[in-house]
Amino acid sequence: MMDEQFWHRKWQQGETGFHQANPNPLLTRNLPALGLSPGGRFFLPLCGKTRDIHWLRANGFQVAGVELSPLAVEQLFAELGIAPRISGAGSLQRHEADGLTIFAGDIFALDHDELGHVDAVYDRAALVALPAPTRTLYAAHLLTVTKRAPQLVITFDYDQSRMEGPPFSVNEAEMRAHYEAAYRLICIESKNVDGGLKGICPARETLWLLEPR
Ligand SMILES: C[S@@+](CC[C@H](N)C(=O)[O-])C[C@H]1O[C@@H](n2cnc3c(N)ncnc32)[C@H](O)[C@@H]1O
Repeated sequence: MMDEQFWHRKWQQGETGFHQANPNPLLTRNLPALGLSPGGRFFLPLCGKTRDIHWLRANGFQVAGVELSPLAVEQLFAELGIAPRISGAGSLQRHEADGLTIFAGDIFALDHDELGHVDAVYDRAALVALPAPTRTLYAAHLLTVTKRAPQLVITFDYDQSRMEGPPFSVNEAEMRAHYEAAYRLICIESKNVDGGLKGICPARETLWLLEPR
């Protein structure tokens, strides 16, 4: 398990360069690829305080998320202008509001009963936020906890020797190693990152659709 202190420190020190001011265009452009019914429920692993949650709610979806940092969860609800109901969920804390449930704590401590049914997973900066050994555990856990819900996954592919993660490089071979047994992998969009990753490292960003087999 990657050092939890690493992420707590990032949030405490406001080093949240991964946070985007606007909803991610890969999501907003390609959400229909999932073919979800209106009102469907999304799961956002390692959700931070992403604006994608605001956007999904504005578009009529229910959202569940899990996030290690209580600071991030607090800021998410403050920015949404919502006061959540808070209750215990095993070793996690459930923050609930209309159509929105955020679990504060470790994703590996979340089980299917607590999460409930989800129609799709949206993984932006979650898989790629984790070091290699943890990614394998994460991918397997995600399958269990979501009962193999379809996924949209954003990855970066670059020369890992040129830069340290996060975000880590996750190439197609690795995606297939994690997910091929459970899903058909469809590359929806793939393009070079403008100016390189963190402005230095040539990288490709890919949006994958994972359809349960
Ligand atoms: C790179 S950030 C991405 C956040 C969000 N998905 C976004 O796009 O803005 C990764 C997030 O995962 C959280 N995180 C790291 N390990 C976690 C774990 N084991 N369980 C839950 N959240 C975790 C971190 O606190 C951090 O907010």
